[in-house]
Amino acid sequence: MNYREKIADILAPHIEGLERDEILPMIEVPADSSKGDYAFPCFKLAKIMRKAPPMIAKGIAEAIEGEKMFQKVESVNAYVNMFVSKAEFADNVVKEVIEKDEDFGRSDIGAGRTVIVEYSSPNIAKPFHIGHIRSTVIGNSIYKIYDFLGYDTIRINHLGDYGTQFGKMICAYRKWGNKEDVIREPIKSLLSYYTKFHEEAEKDPSLEDEARAIFVRLENGEPEEVELWQWFRDESLREFNRVYDMLGITFDSYNGESFYSDKMPAVVQELKDKGLLVEDNGAQIVKLDQFDLPPALITKSDGSTLYITRDIAAAIYRKNTYDFYKNIYVVASQQNLHFQQWKKVIGLMGYDWADDCVHVPFGLVSMEEGTMSTRQGRVIFLEDVLNRAVEQTRKIIMEKNVNTENVDETAREVGIGAVIFNELSNYRIKDYVFSWDKVLNFEGETGPYVQYTHARACSILRNAGEAVMASAKEGFDASRITSDSAHALIKLIYEMPEVIAEAGEKYEPSIVTRHIVDIAQAFNKFYHDEHILVDDETEKTAKVALVMAARNVIRNGLDLLGMKAPEKM
Ligand code: ARG
Repeated sequence: MNYREKIADILAPHIEGLERDEILPMIEVPADSSKGDYAFPCFKLAKIMRKAPPMIAKGIAEAIEGEKMFQKVESVNAYVNMFVSKAEFADNVVKEVIEKDEDFGRSDIGAGRTVIVEYSSPNIAKPFHIGHIRSTVIGNSIYKIYDFLGYDTIRINHLGDYGTQFGKMICAYRKWGNKEDVIREPIKSLLSYYTKFHEEAEKDPSLEDEARAIFVRLENGEPEEVELWQWFRDESLREFNRVYDMLGITFDSYNGESFYSDKMPAVVQELKDKGLLVEDNGAQIVKLDQFDLPPALITKSDGSTLYITRDIAAAIYRKNTYDFYKNIYVVASQQNLHFQQWKKVIGLMGYDWADDCVHVPFGLVSMEEGTMSTRQGRVIFLEDVLNRAVEQTRKIIMEKNVNTENVDETAREVGIGAVIFNELSNYRIKDYVFSWDKVLNFEGETGPYVQYTHARACSILRNAGEAVMASAKEGFDASRITSDSAHALIKLIYEMPEVIAEAGEKYEPSIVTRHIVDIAQAFNKFYHDEHILVDDETEKTAKVALVMAARNVIRNGLDLLGMKAPEKM
């Protein structure tokens, strides 16, 4: 049941000059619950009704006071403050959450529409470092949210497996590389060669030319270069997959940049045919002056294509293959300019679906120890971070001496969950500093805190026993869960579906993160304020019903973030 819509229905007949659908978005949820569960501001009506707003508010309040869904209606200044009937509200909400269980919050607004979410997209032969975690974790959550909203989703890992850097990599491997080292420690070895290449190239710029020539050979499909490239790619993917396994992440497609190499000539030709290409010192560019943007470089003077060319080819391929409703790219804000240019070029090509392509940017992550740079080899590996989080969590679990049968599994779920949750706690666009203390804190607004709250709910339910849970599922006396702390918790639970929809619309998983922190806090307040497993069976059953609802919503929320919800901690 949608309270907001029902309130709009109730208000509409009493408001002149505004349609029900105009009233709907004006209904507020006051932050301070003493101002009601819902409030309606009357400022806007003054002109239409030619009365002072407080007079209007008073009139409306009197007119709707008798409605059954309200326990109380007041006018305070220009506001109509509405207090819903708590028992009826509790009954509706808690029943629905228990019934729908895993599906509470799921919707079908996306039915029949395909959404592509491209995320992670690390570069082959380079470390999967802490910076990649942002795209990986944010993207995975956005995928899960869209899936929950009923869209057909395609997860794409657009691997950085092509480009001039592979000329450098091959060049460096041939000069300083060693096969055994690569087999033993692929990425660390390849990275050290790459780092050396940049050091040496500073002294001897001719190395850059050599590397460029090697890349052209690779693009032309010369077997020796292709073989090395393939080997680097296979070894790298093996390492990436280890991390994806830890995070519980999979993809529908790993078509990265190299996949588009044979689709490039057609794109370049199409740009030419559409009169968009201009020659510039031997290179081919698309001018974007009219948009106040620098030109997009399509081919270099040696004929090789660029990152943006491959992205144009990829977008066209995706439209033809998936006929997407939305094509989402979860990529760092450092690439804002790239995506602006790319979108304009696609628009200039006459593709109106350019507007359905969305770059979802995010800010930088730095470590307390200092920022990263692949070129200088100063890198923190994501895998090491995850392993360390699991290790530390195991220690904390042992110290707390909690009673878990499976310490290893719990440490993994909580440790990795802590890193994921931390990632999704801030607005994605904000830069942030990774701090171990913050990540693993069991008390703050952290993953362990929310998971712990979920485990606490599970433990209460175990203590309540199957019989009480079964009877709570049958029905309960909702008048027993109308205290302030119970009502506050139920309100937050009720808002969850709207929160999920909003997070999807804004591509902002942190909205879900914050909301489940709020729910966890409200649950702990309820747990603290009230005795749940009381002797009175009627009261106990109603409270157990609410605990079940809270557990369901926290669990579903954690799942949308890509986290596990252990039942014991
Ligand atoms: N491989 C790139 C990087 O790590 C990100 C790729 C982003 N996706 C895209 N379609 N351009 O920087």
